[in-house]
Amino acid sequence: MKRALRIVLLSLLGVFVIIQFFQPERDNPPVRAEIAAAPEMKAVLRRACYDCHSNETVWPWYSYVNPMGWLVGGHVREGRAHLNFSEWESLETQKRYHMKQEILEVLEDGSMPLPSYLLLHGDAELTAEDRGVLERWVSEAR
Ligand code: HEC
Repeated sequence: MKRALRIVLLSLLGVFVIIQFFQPERDNPPVRAEIAAAPEMKAVLRRACYDCHSNETVWPWYSYVNPMGWLVGGHVREGRAHLNFSEWESLETQKRYHMKQEILEVLEDGSMPLPSYLLLHGDAELTAEDRGVLERWVSEAR
């Protein structure tokens, strides 16, 4: 019984070591068309959204350790693919308008920032004031 346990534990350790060789990409591409917005709006985005929705991701140490690395890498890849504030100004007006409605939606249903992210980034939680800043920005003309 003890022997079996030892084999299981060693196998798990082996798997843990092997998966470290399959690192996700942790790149930060150049920022070409960052969103132009009032400083208080930018501050909210930077604090709560930029890690997944910009090319200025702060990659934490645990993003270097799989399987957490895969999880974080996946969130950033997917987040940027949906919405990237580092490319906001290059979006067509129509696209921007559409995305503002999507942002309003996530503000209403409270799905962003992702709950798993908030576990380790408590400071990214949106306050009522932050929501007000984002909502006012959504209702601006451009
Ligand atoms: C931990 C990473 C992470 C953070 C932080 C984060 N998001 Fe997201 N976001 C994602 C991912 C992944 C998706 C795509 C999958 C999904 O919809 O769940 C997404 C999708 C979205 C979408 C939907 C876009 C579309 O095309 O439908 C909006 C809008 C959005 N996020 C806004 C925000 C805003 C605003 C913030 C900050 C207040 C934020 N997100 C913070 C990861 C994140």
